[in-house]
Amino acid sequence: MKKLFITAVLSACCGAGALAMTEAQIDSCVNDLVGRMTLDEKIGQLNQRSGFGYVPEMAGLVRTGGVGSILNETDPEVVNKLQREAVENSRLHIPLVFARDVIHGFKTIFPIPLGQAASWNPALVEEGSRIAADEASSVGIRWTFSPMVDVARDPRWGRMAEGYGEDTYLTAVMGVAAVKGYQGDDLSAPNTMAACAKHFAAYGASESGRDYNTTWIPELQLHETYLPPFKAAADAGAATFMCSFNDINGVPSSGNKVLLRDILRDSWGFDGVMVSDWGSIDQMIPHGFSHDLREAARQGIEAGVDIDMESYAYCSHLRDLVEKGEVKEADLDPLVANVLRLKYRLGLFENPYVDMTTASRFYAPASLDAARRAVEESAILLSNSGILPIKNSKVSKIAVIGPMADAAYDQAGTWSFDLEKDRCVTPLAALREMYGKESVIYVPGLEHSRDNSTKGFAAAVEAARNADVVVYFGGEEAVLSGEAHCRVDLSLPGAQSALLDELKSAGKPVVLVIQAGRSLAIAHEAETADATVFCFHGGTMTGPALANLISGKANFSGRCPVSFPRMSGQVPIYYNRKNTGRPAQDMTLINDIPLEAGQTSTGCTSYYLDAGDGPLFPFGYGLSYTTFSYSEPKLSASQIDTDGSLNVSCTVTNTGEVEGSEVAQLYIRDHVGSLVRPVRELRGFEKVTLKPGESREVTFTLNPDDLAFFIAPGRKIVEPGEFSVWVSPNSAEGNPVKFNVVENSLTLAK
Ligand code: BGC
Repeated sequence: MKKLFITAVLSACCGAGALAMTEAQIDSCVNDLVGRMTLDEKIGQLNQRSGFGYVPEMAGLVRTGGVGSILNETDPEVVNKLQREAVENSRLHIPLVFARDVIHGFKTIFPIPLGQAASWNPALVEEGSRIAADEASSVGIRWTFSPMVDVARDPRWGRMAEGYGEDTYLTAVMGVAAVKGYQGDDLSAPNTMAACAKHFAAYGASESGRDYNTTWIPELQLHETYLPPFKAAADAGAATFMCSFNDINGVPSSGNKVLLRDILRDSWGFDGVMVSDWGSIDQMIPHGFSHDLREAARQGIEAGVDIDMESYAYCSHLRDLVEKGEVKEADLDPLVANVLRLKYRLGLFENPYVDMTTASRFYAPASLDAARRAVEESAILLSNSGILPIKNSKVSKIAVIGPMADAAYDQAGTWSFDLEKDRCVTPLAALREMYGKESVIYVPGLEHSRDNSTKGFAAAVEAARNADVVVYFGGEEAVLSGEAHCRVDLSLPGAQSALLDELKSAGKPVVLVIQAGRSLAIAHEAETADATVFCFHGGTMTGPALANLISGKANFSGRCPVSFPRMSGQVPIYYNRKNTGRPAQDMTLINDIPLEAGQTSTGCTSYYLDAGDGPLFPFGYGLSYTTFSYSEPKLSASQIDTDGSLNVSCTVTNTGEVEGSEVAQLYIRDHVGSLVRPVRELRGFEKVTLKPGESREVTFTLNPDDLAFFIAPGRKIVEPGEFSVWVSPNSAEGNPVKFNVVENSLTLAK
């Protein structure tokens, strides 16, 4: 009854009562509401606090309108009680919005985003995000701080785990899929979450891969490499953005008017919410950009940060800043409007409460099934001498060794705040189920991934001797990646490499399965093992998926979303680099250099003496239990105008014995430009599933925007000249086909 009354009051105030309001109705409600708010109520909407239960302090803050959004509150009863204070007991009845870092699943944990990217299957990312939204919204979380669309080319940076890898295009496609999954077709439906494209911007470029570090990025590179995934997320309707911790060229993002206002609002037309990162307004002080919190608050407002997450800057200083005329109250109104608009778009005014009859919807069989498929599609087969798949009929004993074989907590990866590790099925449990308990000898060898003790080696080697095949599960624990968890040494931690050598010396084939939060430098280990599988932390269903893949019940189709370095010192490493004036000609390694060799005898080209040129495994690479062939790409024209488009078709055939999925990748190269262009750029991809012998034609369209590049911020052009195009299985293979672009008029592609 009370709810009906409030709804009626709100509907009357806003002049709208239908469940899904139009944008015009929302605007009129927002304007009406802003017009009736006191200064303190406005400041309250811009204040975000971390939850700490239904306690008098928080309840009081909510009742007086002193807080507009709460993060990290996950008990639906507490959510409802706090919401009741806002909706029924605050003066203007403005609902709260509850937020959380639901990064790769809420309870049903999916692969970390880097793993999702390795699937090269946006439908799967969308499905996982949809499931995450359904589970999280069932406890009242209607806003996730995801997707992270920071392009990351340096695996030392622990947060590489949270994004979609090194490539701008792949990141944009996957980010858009996540936005769609979280927000659905109708954001006001109670089982959706507002997405948040973060961290705006260029956080992934943190110098030397050290978290929170400075970035210095030429403007054109910012526009070409780092901003497009954010633009794509905004175009896809991402309801919110989060600004980043780092400074770009000396200006911290939380105080960056050019980024937050000129680019995002004015040029891209974003009308959603910009939230600060945790304490990032406050952190403009240690950055050396603000003298004190009061100044930081003013700078945050001027830059256009709508919500202050946990800096206490706005709630402590905005009233004084307005009273002293340093910030105009009218300048707060658009920021407040953005927050209210989000709440209307989420349908919170109509539907503020968690429905306790359907609350806490977790682990639906279909969700677990989707999580398993996600791992199956994201695990990458890096090498295989033929030992995989391990068919039940081929072996009677499998030695399962390694610290990640039964590490329920660690297989979930970073940002698994709501993990219930007992729900995780480990590879050990799944292999026992698959092959029979009596066929699996389990000896961990090392207690955890960083373990340096060799005391477990002897038992592990003994187990290897008694088995037909060794499957070693190693990699990194969850805590070795993620925020503030950066590493300079990208090799397998602890004594893992030494253990692998010992296992190999037992004379049995060794399958190496790595679970990690980043690409690792595993040249020696991949060389040692008879097969190598790389699985970015896979979440709840890692075990069943890996067991299916290892046994051949499922086929590998994951492809590298980042280039794998041979050695740590090669990073940052990425495929779409510039050619240089002296591109590498060979792979001379330090061991081959004669003593007292002449200064120029090794050639003067762009490579490392001790790592050669190029990655260990290139971007886009991954094997399968079958093989695929590609026909020569057919172009719809050999010449187009600068404003023309081109179709590229290629037939992919499964030339092996089993069904499998291949990721056909479209790359271009603009050979000569007024600015030097990269050696390859991904412009499309398609994952196709083919039966043995089956062929499928894939067709891509190259539009002017795909051929264009930035010559000035916001200005892209297509230049005439020769281009190459590849449809290939990865960024290092395939034969290019050439076409020409001829002068029309210099075309503004966008
Ligand atoms: C992270 C964000 C996250 C926020 C809220 C920050 O430390 O950088 O990505 O969304 O905390 O938990």
